[in-house]
Amino acid sequence: MQKIKGAIFDLDGVLVDTAKYHYLAWKKLANKLGFDFSEKDNEKLKGVSRTRSLEILLDIGKVQADENQKSKWAEEKNECYVEYLKKLDSTALLEGTTDYLNTLHAEGVKISLGSASKNAPLILSQLNINNYFDAVIDGNSISKAKPDPEVFLQGAKALGLKPSECAVFEDSLAGIQAAKKGGMIAVGVVGEGDKKNLPGADFYVKSLGEAERSGLFI
Ligand code: BG6
Ligand code: MG
Repeated sequence: MQKIKGAIFDLDGVLVDTAKYHYLAWKKLANKLGFDFSEKDNEKLKGVSRTRSLEILLDIGKVQADENQKSKWAEEKNECYVEYLKKLDSTALLEGTTDYLNTLHAEGVKISLGSASKNAPLILSQLNINNYFDAVIDGNSISKAKPDPEVFLQGAKALGLKPSECAVFEDSLAGIQAAKKGGMIAVGVVGEGDKKNLPGADFYVKSLGEAERSGLFI
């Protein structure tokens, strides 16, 4: 099997199942603004920054607002989301996450986070998985959202590696596109979804447990 020197993991939908909490918090805001927001609509927000997510939500509800109002709504959604995060624990980790992180670590592979979330530090600490990461790049350290490759290029740099020596694990199309633009190997983590929704990846797994069982990069 092909070897790598670095592994860069997206957070939401790859290591942990937080999409349902994002969904509930956005839905609460949508309902307050007088329209409904379906789980199918929520798919459009995966991998997308908070600000962009709000714009997509407001488009769905055909709601217009100035920047000041938008930032208040984004803050309100985040406060609701953070209430869910405070109750998060390691049972929210997706199947096989810590096994695969342990295996890669034992193989000498350096590990970075590459997430759009500004809540990544809180989530990592709630899940008690900080220790697995040699670098953490998240929404607090980047200026350009996926599909721009900035988050993953910073991850590779922080690990002291070339992009081509790293594999990126992603559940969103924007993330797969960012990895390929950055010159990295892209692994689509499809979960219960279909790989047709994630075109362009080099490998596909259902979960990190499957990556472990199939010996991906091991
Ligand atoms: C991504 C999620 O990981 O983080 C998106 O897939 C989310 O749905 C984005 O909008 C930003 O997250 P946060 O926690 O900063 O609002
Ligand atoms: Mg994701």
